[in-house]
Amino acid sequence: MIITRTKKELHRYLKLIRDAEKSVGFVPTMGALHEGHLSLIRCSNNENNFTVVSIFVNPLQFNNPEDLEKYPRNEERDLDILLSAFCDIVFIPDIREIYPEKDERVFDFDGLDKVMEGKYREGHFNGVAQVVSKLFEIVKPDKAYFGRKDFQQVAIIKFLNKNYLSHLNIDIVTCDTIREADGLAMSSRNELLDSVQRKSASLISKTLKKYTKIYESISKRELIDKITREINKDKNLKVEYVDIVDDETLRTVDKIKPGKTTVCVAVYCGKVRLIDNMPF
Ligand code: PAF
Repeated sequence: MIITRTKKELHRYLKLIRDAEKSVGFVPTMGALHEGHLSLIRCSNNENNFTVVSIFVNPLQFNNPEDLEKYPRNEERDLDILLSAFCDIVFIPDIREIYPEKDERVFDFDGLDKVMEGKYREGHFNGVAQVVSKLFEIVKPDKAYFGRKDFQQVAIIKFLNKNYLSHLNIDIVTCDTIREADGLAMSSRNELLDSVQRKSASLISKTLKKYTKIYESISKRELIDKITREINKDKNLKVEYVDIVDDETLRTVDKIKPGKTTVCVAVYCGKVRLIDNMPF
C-alpha cells in the first residue's frame, strides 16, 4: 500500500495507473475507520483496478469547534485497517495541501441543504462540498463511494457532482449502512460513547426498524411523535429531529411511499450527536 501526503506524489502514481488504462475507485474519509468504511473499500476493489482512500479531517465542515477537536483520530490504526482491506493508495494531506488559499466558495444545493442536518449544522454541507470537490479534482476517480448512513450527504454530493463537477465524469456509488450486531449504525463517533451510552444508542435503530414496519396503521404525525417519545424514554438519549422525507428532494412528505420515502433522525447520546435513517 502506498502512503502519500502530497498531491504531487499522488499524481505521479495516478499517472502510472491512467497510462496503463486502469480504473480508480475513491473512498474519501475522515479516518477513525470502521467496518462501514471497509465495506466501501470492498465495493471499490470489486469495481475498479485500484482503490484510493483519503484521510482528512476537514475543519470546514465542523460548525462546532469542540466537535472538531473531539473528532477521533488514530492514523496508525487506520493504516493497519487499510492495509488489511487491500487499499492501494492512501492519501493523507495536511490542510495546506487541500486549502492552499482560503476557500470562499458558496454552493447552491437548491434547498437540499436547508432541511434536517442543514437546519442544525449551519455551513456543514458547504464545507463537505468544498472538500469533496477539492478531493475529486485531485484524484479524478472513475467512481466514488459513500455510505447511505449519511443520507443527506449522499444527496448533496450527487447534486454537487451533477451540477458543479460534471466535467470529471465521476459515478457516485451509494453503499448500504453497516450496522453493529444490535443495530447501531457504524460511525466514527460511536468511539466517543461510553459503555452505558453505547447500550442506549442501539435504541435508535431499533425504534426506526419497528416503526418503518408498522407505518401503515398510523398517521405520519403520530409516527414522528411515537419515534421521538420512544427514543427520548431512554435518559441517555435526546432526539434533535425526526423527519420523514422524499428520497430525491429530501422534502418532508405527507404520504409515505414505500421504496421512495425515508425516516431520518439525529439524536444526542450524551454529548455525542448520532444520525441514522431507514427506508420505508
Ligand atoms: O463522510 C465523511 O466522512 C465526510 O463528510 C467526507 C465525505 C469524507 C468529507 O469530509
